[in-house]
Amino acid sequence: MSCVASLENLWWSYENSSEWVLKNVNLCVGEGEFLLITGPTGAGKTTLARVLCGLIPGSYRGVLKGRVSILGSEVTSLKSLRVLSNVGFVSSDPEMQFLTTRVEDEVALRLRFLGVDSEEIRERVSWAIKQVGLSESILDKSPYELSSGQKQRVAIAVAIATKPRLIVFDEPLSNLDWAGAEGVVRSIELLRRDNKATIIVVEHRIDVFMPYLSRIALMYGGELVLVGDPPNFFARLPRGLENYVRVPELVRIWRYITPRHSLRNENLSHESLRTYLIKLLKGVY
Ligand SMILES: Nc1ncnc2c1ncn2[C@@H]1O[C@H](COP(=O)(O)OP(=O)(O)OP(=O)(O)O)[C@@H](O)[C@H]1O
Ligand SMILES: [Mg+2]
Repeated sequence: MSCVASLENLWWSYENSSEWVLKNVNLCVGEGEFLLITGPTGAGKTTLARVLCGLIPGSYRGVLKGRVSILGSEVTSLKSLRVLSNVGFVSSDPEMQFLTTRVEDEVALRLRFLGVDSEEIRERVSWAIKQVGLSESILDKSPYELSSGQKQRVAIAVAIATKPRLIVFDEPLSNLDWAGAEGVVRSIELLRRDNKATIIVVEHRIDVFMPYLSRIALMYGGELVLVGDPPNFFARLPRGLENYVRVPELVRIWRYITPRHSLRNENLSHESLRTYLIKLLKGVY
């Protein structure tokens, strides 16, 4: 498999810190993947996200050991700007990312920087705003006066407007309720499907992403301790680490019924689980 993002024996420590925040991380994210990274507070998820979108080492000072390659280029601080034009990043604090005082200018900014002509910029801005479920009436507003959910959506629109090949989201659902979260997750999935983008999401909430994920990764103490497709991930998740993962309700139910109905863990996919539960419930009621 060719890797859109590849990390080999990666170690990272921030300047003036004696501790490694990332410890010997190895990961290959394939084209068109939808990878979710989860883990406890302070595990290094945001730091890993910064590496995966080329912000580390370019925009942060520290010590890096090992190899990082994104979209076929080895990332060094000099090359990270070039990488960035093909990579989107949505930080967990959208307000920190805003650079202008009008939503339209904000979404158009990177496109202008990349030299896209004004007609296409208008089309892209309108596409991106619709894609995240906002109406064009928001374009004239200041991003700072929006609700936190709207800010998050605008930040996502900014990241997708350039139609990047790789997009990294750091806790994109933190300001959204269930309905808002489902809408955002669906638009992220559309982006993967229609624009062949590769998606990496750092999130505690796994349930709403479950139907779309190709793999789940668990960070713990700076290490990538477990990576696997959803059935594999939950089957191999050590009991001792379960408290650090929000195991979706559907998976808990599946785990409860599998030993009683001689089902195998490998059958656990969102669709097969759904179908099975519906059958089971029909039999009961
Ligand atoms: N810019 C920075 N400068 C110095 N240290 C940092 C910086 N950013 C993060 N750290 C440190 O790196 C470690 C990992 O932090 P990181 O934010 O990557 O964890 P996280 O898994 O994203 O946590 P959370 O779930 O709380 O967002 C922490 O000890 C943190 O204090
Ligand atoms: Mg974080």
